[in-house]
Amino acid sequence: MTPRLFLTGVTGYIGGSVFSALARKHPEYDLTVLLRKPPTNFTSQFPGVNLIQGSFDDSGTIAEAAASADIVIYSGDGDHENALNSIISGLLRRDSISYLIKLSGTGTLYEYPDTMEYLGRFNPKIYSDIDDIKELVSRPDNALHRRTDAIVLKAAAEHGHSLKTAIVCPPDIYGRGHGPGRRASYYIPWFVEATRKLGKPFYLQDGSNMRGWVHIDDFVQIYISLVEAAVAGGESVSWGREGYFLAASQEASQRDVAEATAKILFARGEISSADAQSISNEEMASLFPDAPDTGFFSFGCNSRSKADRAIKELGHVPKAPSLWDVLESDLMDAIAATK
Ligand SMILES: NC(=O)c1ccc[n+]([C@@H]2O[C@H](COP(=O)([O-])OP(=O)(O)OC[C@H]3O[C@@H](n4cnc5c(N)ncnc54)[C@H](OP(=O)(O)O)[C@@H]3O)[C@@H](O)[C@H]2O)c1
Repeated sequence: MTPRLFLTGVTGYIGGSVFSALARKHPEYDLTVLLRKPPTNFTSQFPGVNLIQGSFDDSGTIAEAAASADIVIYSGDGDHENALNSIISGLLRRDSISYLIKLSGTGTLYEYPDTMEYLGRFNPKIYSDIDDIKELVSRPDNALHRRTDAIVLKAAAEHGHSLKTAIVCPPDIYGRGHGPGRRASYYIPWFVEATRKLGKPFYLQDGSNMRGWVHIDDFVQIYISLVEAAVAGGESVSWGREGYFLAASQEASQRDVAEATAKILFARGEISSADAQSISNEEMASLFPDAPDTGFFSFGCNSRSKADRAIKELGHVPKAPSLWDVLESDLMDAIAATK
């Protein structure tokens, strides 16, 4: 039978890249997408794809689309509880087994605001989605993405015989996306924006806080493998409580990112010095006045993770260029986008 997939967030960086890779690799799949603002050329670009116009607030529409799908890939706003509840209520109407692959993010691992201890400082803790699964599925209520992860985990605990769920948890992502809408990630455009305000790339304290990174193409490959596993009957991988997939392929300290950025931007004539700078908490808080925690979350925290489960269960092997190979082109894309 033709697998029926329902996807959200398809005009986004992640959801769009996942969608276009699936459409390219599996033209035999029956794809339905939810778009609130369909790009004008969407239907001519993807003539075989069913389009539903609506937003994450349209509970009935989402539930109906999920009820007709074997596999739902939820990307987009990682914190939209209504969208997830609607998807789950639709999937639970089905008579056969269904799958939900939910996007999360390693923002859920940040130490701040619970403690300031590791802001701009090295934290030795690296999360494994096999060894530390108990901690990952019981993050504190105030952790980023926790509320929606908890919705999925609860549904899996109550209905795991018919509803197979996976939470996919990327670190910071780099590289150009491939979808029909947004093709830029978040970290590098935000870092460029903040660097412009301060005049130089920056870090807090000694900048030894470490973050995981993954190229968008390697991250998408985890999705493709998960979907293919589901289509094959789902036996080969974990779902539900153990169905938690971290995705980092490498790490970098904030200081290393800032220093490499300074060299590139100086060589490109964008800034007047090849040095990065250490900034204070007050300067960090001032970078995003409408959401002061954004700077601390994005540039001051540690978020260290290993993609152990994808490697073990999906045979995942990252193949894309490293952050250092792509940093210059991502920086130039971010600068070009603001000119
Ligand atoms: N990018 C990263 O490096 C990264 C890393 C870890 C975690 N994450 C998490 O992953 C999620 C998605 O990231 P992204 O980079 O793909 O974001 P993005 O490029 O901004 O994409 C967001 C997508 O969600 C859709 N969307 C948002 N609110 C919606 C609503 N109310 N109704 C319908 N559609 C809605 C957007 O549609 P429109 O086009 O209509 O706006 C767009 O398709 C975020 O929660 C982020 O925190 C991202």
